[in-house]
Amino acid sequence: MNEIVWTDAAYQSIVSTLRARTGLVFRATQRESIKAGIATAMKRSRVADSTEYAKLLAYDVEALDNLIVELTVGETYFFREPSQFEGIRREILPEILRRRGIEHRVRIWSAACASGEEPYSLAMVCDEEGLARRCEILATDISSEALAKARQGVYRDWSLRGERASAAKKYLSHVDGVNIVEERIRRLVRFEFLNLAMDVYPSHVTSTEALDLILCRNVLIYLGRSTICEVSERLYRCLAEGGWLITASGDPSVGEYAPFETVVTDFGVFYRKPAAATSDDSVTSATDKATEPLVPASSTTTLDLLSGRGVASQPLTRLEMNASVEVAAARAALGRGEYARAVELADLHPLDPAACVIQVKALANLSTDSAIKKCTMFVSRHPLVAELHYLHAVLLMELNLDVEAVQAAQRALFLDRSLELAHFLLGTILQRRGALEDARRSFRNARDLAKARQPDEVVPLSEHETASLLTRAAENHLRVIDAVRRGDE
Ligand SMILES: C[S@@+](CC[C@H](N)C(=O)[O-])C[C@H]1O[C@@H](n2cnc3c(N)ncnc32)[C@H](O)[C@@H]1O
Repeated sequence: MNEIVWTDAAYQSIVSTLRARTGLVFRATQRESIKAGIATAMKRSRVADSTEYAKLLAYDVEALDNLIVELTVGETYFFREPSQFEGIRREILPEILRRRGIEHRVRIWSAACASGEEPYSLAMVCDEEGLARRCEILATDISSEALAKARQGVYRDWSLRGERASAAKKYLSHVDGVNIVEERIRRLVRFEFLNLAMDVYPSHVTSTEALDLILCRNVLIYLGRSTICEVSERLYRCLAEGGWLITASGDPSVGEYAPFETVVTDFGVFYRKPAAATSDDSVTSATDKATEPLVPASSTTTLDLLSGRGVASQPLTRLEMNASVEVAAARAALGRGEYARAVELADLHPLDPAACVIQVKALANLSTDSAIKKCTMFVSRHPLVAELHYLHAVLLMELNLDVEAVQAAQRALFLDRSLELAHFLLGTILQRRGALEDARRSFRNARDLAKARQPDEVVPLSEHETASLLTRAAENHLRVIDAVRRGDE
């Protein structure tokens, strides 16, 4: 095929078609990589002129599908983010059955399922929990190519690269170098085309009503803010009262777009439609929500109360830093390196999150054991303070408790995903665990967020680290990961 002829107008037209039809948006900095993706898709559609291609996209569904495949990483694997599946097994499914009765048919939706590893992992969990006959799993995606692959249920070993791959293996037969999903697991999942950017859900027609659990992971990150808002609001309405929504740890928060409860659990932070909600209160515009606290006052205790763990929750609005004299003095003592004095002063205000942060930082310089004990206590007292979860992650990592450290870092990011240092920390732990693809994503997030700041700005959560230093450090990690991955190929 001839060299591609680009015009700026054609590029803009392609990008706006994508935005209008799928909700996908791209940053100006991504322009070159987006053009490369478009170029590959153009080759597949055998069109060399970008103006012609822009016209083709308007009516040719297959061409659009090819383009989506190129531009959204269909990246997925069995039991991705295993702690979330553990949460489904140990907390969510039992809670649904307790509430709705053991005869209830559990209705689950994997929205943006890509090539199917996610809904099949769900089916495996349901099977293990004895629910194979009492669950319905709908799996949808915008990519027909991905759906065709999902329906086949045949996977290369690459789909088993996650740390919990073993949980999937017993449901797969290894034949001629590929892994085939057992027929009875395949039968539990129904794959359908559904474009999340379109107003086709909730609906009886698309079987997206009265759902007990929705997984919508690793797709919101590709969507523009207004689409995220619409998708969140629609997903909320798809849930039955008390139903659950799980997004990925790297996804933008949906809590500000619909009145979800945010539930902090040992397995991550999940969303929930309040059990007592009526259909009338389900639609809340982003503007209405913007002035409200991120999490309603009554919202975070649900699961903890159910499981008897009793976490005291505080809405963010109450977390404004208490400027008491002792807290200011504790901060100053920490700055001077007088750690014992800082602990002593901060300990006078155990209910003040700022004092808790100071105390943990000071203790970390005296004894990691004491710091982690206090920090564990403080995160359950103030579950919505991202900085405490971040410090918890740092301390857990120091003690080589990597699984717990990942969860703590993910909690920090669920509460505030703009924290580049938390992304960086998560990347470091994941890299150490060999989860290179996830580590790379975290470092990329850290780099992109740090890059968006002034180079000499000190990044949040850090005492001295500047944005330019963090950017360089993240880039170094990315280079190392790429080198390791090239070596593996
Ligand atoms: C990274 S994969 C996520 C797979 C899986 N949920 C996971 O977390 O492993 C993202 C998927 O989102 C799909 N997608 C992108 N835009 C979409 C849209 N507007 N509606 C539905 N699916 C979409 C892509 O086709 C791709 O398969």
